[in-house]
Amino acid sequence: MHSYNSLKRLAHNVALPAMFVDLDLFDANVHALAKICRATGKTWRPATKSIRVPALLKRLQKIAGETQKGWMCFSIFEASYLYAQNAQGFDDLLIAYPLSTESEYEEAFKLLEKGCNFHLMIDSAAHVANLSSFLSKKLANDKRNLHFQVCIDVDMSWRPLGLLHLGVHRSPIRSLPKFKEVFSEAQKSDFVLLTGVMGYEAQIAGLPDHNRFNRWQNPIKALIRLCSKKHVLRWRAEIVGFLETYKARLRFFNGGGTGSFEFAAHDPSLSEITSGSGPLQSQLFDYYRETTAQKVLRPALFFALPVCRIPDSKRVTLKSGGFIASGEVGPDRSPFLYRPEVGKLTSGEGAGEVQTPVQVPDSSQYKLGDPFFFRPAKAGEIAEHFNHYVLYRDEKVEESVPTYRGLGLNFF
Ligand SMILES: Cc1ncc(COP(=O)(O)O)c(C=O)c1O
Repeated sequence: MHSYNSLKRLAHNVALPAMFVDLDLFDANVHALAKICRATGKTWRPATKSIRVPALLKRLQKIAGETQKGWMCFSIFEASYLYAQNAQGFDDLLIAYPLSTESEYEEAFKLLEKGCNFHLMIDSAAHVANLSSFLSKKLANDKRNLHFQVCIDVDMSWRPLGLLHLGVHRSPIRSLPKFKEVFSEAQKSDFVLLTGVMGYEAQIAGLPDHNRFNRWQNPIKALIRLCSKKHVLRWRAEIVGFLETYKARLRFFNGGGTGSFEFAAHDPSLSEITSGSGPLQSQLFDYYRETTAQKVLRPALFFALPVCRIPDSKRVTLKSGGFIASGEVGPDRSPFLYRPEVGKLTSGEGAGEVQTPVQVPDSSQYKLGDPFFFRPAKAGEIAEHFNHYVLYRDEKVEESVPTYRGLGLNFF
């Protein structure tokens, strides 16, 4: 798959640096994820943050068909933009991270007035109070019966003996009493309507246990993943049990990510699964032992940098390249040199802001302008560096489509 020469032919007439998406592999990845959902009776809510290219979102939707239901957005402003494209099916928008500023509330209100079906994330009485007080002020002297649909974000981290916190630091809801507290605050308010629950098991989905860096940590991470699974299944089932007792009929229970897709799909408590990176299969997802990402997904996203100088017989220097991914800083966040396979980033410089030196066995094999191909560590953030993605099939460019950045959009 993807020999250096075939990629080189593909990049021949493209202005470099450039991003490339292999459509055959993108489509196959979408099919594979949709198939898992169909087999387990779940729907798929893709995370837009991990794609950030409207044409690819639409493509995913077309291929996944009815299995794809709703979108997981990362910003209310992004949700607004997508809703404005509603003719193309962007509806049922879950904004996965809570709002906290006046400008976000204002944007949510505009969406509400337009009749958009969207859900805001909450995890505390303060979130409910802020949304309610904002809306009550907006609706003073207004007879319309409007409310914000909300989703409760439940912390899925594993805390053995209450001493360690293995997971992300997001929601404070770690017990049923705490869940009940936020649940009843939401029930009491006339301005919010509880429509969903989200329980994202970040310490499973985002914890590679087959990393080629810091290998000694792999068994520990594998153990955390394994033990967390029991906890996550039990905790999500406990929430479902509580909701059933209260006859609270919510529209969805969301969970999962690319690094835990199959596990989440088999959890009977969940109604829908999220994956955003899966269709593009960025580098970090290679570093898992036994996941869907490892077994069925194939790398569909990479970028090409041109050789711009040849400093000596063992090195070429490429233009640009320092697209380091977020998260705990480490070598696995750096772009990974994909083709030619013989090259290696230098330890002194790594992938640089304006230039990236690469060690090669014999630099006379390359000439100025030759492309070197990399895979980004994460799938979505890289779109913030490029205006367009080049979509291709069988070594032929089909089209060049804008990223959010290329459309002049920048969401937080
Ligand atoms: C709430 C939530 N769900 C799911 C995901 C999984 O996204 P991906 O499939 O791109 O890893 C993330 C990623 O950070 C997330 O924050």
